[in-house]
Amino acid sequence: MKNKLLISALVLTILVSCTSDKSNSDTDIVVPPVIPPVINITSLKQASIPFGVACSPSPLKTDALYRETIINHTSSLTAENCFKPARISLGRKQYFWDDCDYMVNFAIQNNLRLHGHTLNWYSASGVPTWVSNFVGTKEEWILIMKEYIQDVVGRYKGKIKSWDVVNEPFETTGVLRNSIWKQNIGDEYIDLAFQFAHEADPEAILFINEFGTEYSIPKRTALLNLSNRLVASNIPINGIGLQFHTSISRSEIDIRTTIHTMASTKLKIHISELDVEINPSNVKPFVITDALLLSQKRIYSYVTKVMLEIPKNQQFGITTWGISDAVSWKKNDPDFPLLFDLAYKPKPAYYGMIDSFNQK
Ligand code: G3I
Repeated sequence: MKNKLLISALVLTILVSCTSDKSNSDTDIVVPPVIPPVINITSLKQASIPFGVACSPSPLKTDALYRETIINHTSSLTAENCFKPARISLGRKQYFWDDCDYMVNFAIQNNLRLHGHTLNWYSASGVPTWVSNFVGTKEEWILIMKEYIQDVVGRYKGKIKSWDVVNEPFETTGVLRNSIWKQNIGDEYIDLAFQFAHEADPEAILFINEFGTEYSIPKRTALLNLSNRLVASNIPINGIGLQFHTSISRSEIDIRTTIHTMASTKLKIHISELDVEINPSNVKPFVITDALLLSQKRIYSYVTKVMLEIPKNQQFGITTWGISDAVSWKKNDPDFPLLFDLAYKPKPAYYGMIDSFNQK
């Protein structure tokens, strides 16, 4: 009975206090509770800008450490080599799809975004042997370019969300490279490549991709002018890929200027092939020191910080050119330019990126 009385008194007290709160709230402005955003990420997989790496089918199939590190730490992939035209195109209308199909299925199975690299490229990997021997009129060159782009983009329509349409179109001087496509079609090969890719998959996000814009002002200006011209001409371009194969001796200010200059186009920005050399002079034998790893960390965290400064809808992604130092294209220099070491352990640079995402 005594307990019952106590409970009744308690209930009455709560009711009275609720009523009095309500009468106050009639005159007050109701402020919704502020829920702080979750910014303390612990893996780059959780980053607010998609984090990706370049990778290849063979080690994905055979190397569990390589595969699991990629699955656990990334949200986006770029195929390092297998989507290059010289790998896919064995002859006119003759294609090798196995590696590309594997990459697409791997990405889908692991819920990873896949970026296609690349549809048109001046270099040997970009020009199939039969194309380098092709003889034809301008119209015939346009037709073979169209066939290739539309067969590849069409095959993966809806599965590959974004493409590097034209890769590395400029010389360091800012002059348009005299690629086989420019020689046979003229400067408008770039406009046509974007139009053909867009026709094959109107939803695909289409990029122009370039290296060296952080150290070559003429190239940076040329890329800016070309991008603005394409946008003004209603050519279906959606983004700019800044490769950033860089090193600890490059200027941070140049990196910042490049990202912000390119973002002025309002196009999406993809840091598309990031790696940071710690042995840019290729010294042999080479000793890795803590100081070098900290310098590398500073660049990775800085690139991330600057990417977070541009508008959210332009932050397409940050992709490193490989998952670990064990598979970097620079490993024989020797160099150690990536976020994971030879044993796939995260390096200080990895935590530098995490800190930038956590705004520390
Ligand atoms: O797979 C073959 C192997 O079977 C053969 O034994 C070996 C002998 O040389 O070659 C292997 O292929 C090499 C391939 O890398 C895989 O390691 C090619 O010769 C070599 O040319 C190829 O280099 C690639 C290069 O692009 C040219 O396509 C690099 O891996 C790749 O990292 C690099 O990536 C480029 C981007 O596409 C564009 N931006 C610059 C970036 C770095 O150069």
